[in-house]
Amino acid sequence: MRHLVSAGDLSRDQALLVLDTAREMAALQQREIKKLPTLRGRTVVNLFYEDSTRTRISFEAAAKRLSADVINFSAKGSSVSKGESLKDTALTLQAMGADAVVVRHSASGAAHRLAATGWVDGAIVNAGDGTHEHPTQALLDAYTMRERLGGDLAGRRVLIVGDVLHSRVARSNVLLLATLGAQVVLAAPPTLLPVGVEQWPCETTYDLDPQLAKADVVMALRVQRERMTEAFFPSAREYSRRYGLDAARAAVLQDGAIVMHPGPMNRGVEITAEVADSARSTIVEQVANGVSVRMAVLYLLLGGALQTGSDPRA
Ligand code: CP
Repeated sequence: MRHLVSAGDLSRDQALLVLDTAREMAALQQREIKKLPTLRGRTVVNLFYEDSTRTRISFEAAAKRLSADVINFSAKGSSVSKGESLKDTALTLQAMGADAVVVRHSASGAAHRLAATGWVDGAIVNAGDGTHEHPTQALLDAYTMRERLGGDLAGRRVLIVGDVLHSRVARSNVLLLATLGAQVVLAAPPTLLPVGVEQWPCETTYDLDPQLAKADVVMALRVQRERMTEAFFPSAREYSRRYGLDAARAAVLQDGAIVMHPGPMNRGVEITAEVADSARSTIVEQVANGVSVRMAVLYLLLGGALQTGSDPRA
C-alpha cells in the first residue's frame, strides 16, 4: 500500500510491522536519540481542514524527528476561505513537492479521494475524515493496549462505549482490532449506533454494565455534539447515567484493565475526571505513543515498506 486511508487496509503483518517499528522509535527516543536522518530531504505536508490538537502536533513532531521538512496547512486563513477546492489545493501542494500529505477533513472520503485521484504523487495519510476513519488513532490505541496489557491482543476483550455514530475512531479501532484478533464490543444508545453496524466485525449492545467485568480495555468515545442534530442529542445527565465511565463503573473492572479515550474529552459527560486521571487511564500515554506510531507510519510509507511488504530495517 502507498497510502494509509483505512485501518482495514492493513494486513495483520503490516499492522504488526507498524507497531513493532513504533516500539523501536520509542526506544530510540528514550535513549535520547531524538532525531533520525531517515527522511532528510523529504517534505511532509499537514493538510488540516478541521481542528486538531493531538494529531496535528504529533504528526509534526514525528516528521521533524525523522528530519523531514514540514509544511503545516490550516484551512483557516488559507485560500480555502476564498472557495479554493480540495483539488486545486492538492495541485498547489504537488507543485511544491509533497512526499506525504497528512490530511484531516470534515468530509468522509476526502483522504480516499486524494489517494485515488493522483492529484498529489506523495503518500496520503488519513488523519481523520468526517465520521469515517482515523487509522493512526487506531494504531496508537493498539500500541498502547499492547504496551499496557503485555503484548499480543489476540483474544483480548475491548469495550468501546458511547457515540459510535459520529466516531471515526470507533470504526478504525474495530477494523484494526479485528485484524489483530481482539474481540470488540460496542456499547451505545440505539440512536448513537450507525446503520449497518451489524456488518462490522464486532458485537453491539445497548447495555454497558454487564460488559464491564469482562473487559480488558474500556474506551470511552467523545460525545460529538457538534455533529448531532437535536433529535439525536441525549441529555448529558441521562447519557452519563447510562454510559458515563465513573468511579462506580471503574470499580467493577478486572485488575489490570485499562481505560482509554482518544481525546478531546468532555469531562463529566462520557468520563469523570476521577477516572480520566486514575492509574487505569492511558489517556496521556496514548498521546505520547502517537508520536512514535506516526514516526513509524511515515518511515514505512515513505520507505515503501508497506507497499512491498518488505521491512526497511532488514
Ligand atoms: N484524537 C484526536 O484525533 O485528537 P485531535 O482532534 O486533537 O487531533
